[in-house]
Amino acid sequence: MIKPAFVDFDTVSSTNDIALELAKTGAPEGTVVIARSQHAGRGRHGRVWVDEPGSSVLMSAILRPHLPPERFHELSFVSSIAAAESLKEQFGLRCELKWPNDVLVNKRKICGILIETTEAAAEAAVVIGIGVNVNQTAFPSEIAAEATSVALETGSTQDVRAATEKMAMALFEWYQAYCSVGFAAILERWRTHMCGMGTRAEVDVGGEQIRGRIVGIDDCGRLLLQDDCGATRAIAWAECISFQSL
Ligand code: BTN
Repeated sequence: MIKPAFVDFDTVSSTNDIALELAKTGAPEGTVVIARSQHAGRGRHGRVWVDEPGSSVLMSAILRPHLPPERFHELSFVSSIAAAESLKEQFGLRCELKWPNDVLVNKRKICGILIETTEAAAEAAVVIGIGVNVNQTAFPSEIAAEATSVALETGSTQDVRAATEKMAMALFEWYQAYCSVGFAAILERWRTHMCGMGTRAEVDVGGEQIRGRIVGIDDCGRLLLQDDCGATRAIAWAECISFQSL
């Protein structure tokens, strides 16, 4: 079992920045950078991840998987299922997963995951950055309609530190399960939480806008989108620049 080694900060630019730096200087698998606040928190596709100090899980865990880089995206599925299961276990929340790795409750986003890699050390490292809205009761107007928090969903304030520790434990447990049972079993579980099947979406693939109906996830974890002519296109995590429900 990987034991999390927490490295605590009050305010950082981004916990992913610190974890990537630590990974480059050889920090071992299991290192978890956590912070009370970030002043340059980031999300996927260059988006900003805003937090209210002390109200969120803000953590970045270092993994050193023995995988070729083209399989690193599998960790996106491992981490989102870990987050969903942990939120269920900790707070009884019924989470849905939106491809590639958003965690939603009642159709609103409660947790986002940003995966980044570095090959600067002898062994490549993958940093799994997880942000969970825990005690926020309001959000900036730009995201208010799409975001939720544990407090809003459960009606009570929670211990952020305890939630962070449990989230890290869940991540490592699911990672180890993945290492022993393989990706197919993780994906099977992921599909049981998947939302949006049958709905229409628009995906930006390298500047090309592709519209269609979501018809599934293939065995490599690619999103299957069927266009209006009935042709199905498989979209890989790495080539997707943005994903929008229509
Ligand atoms: C997304 O939904 O686009 C991903 C959001 C990821 C946010 C987390 S918070 C901890 C870690 N540090 C960051 O700067 N980002 C991730």
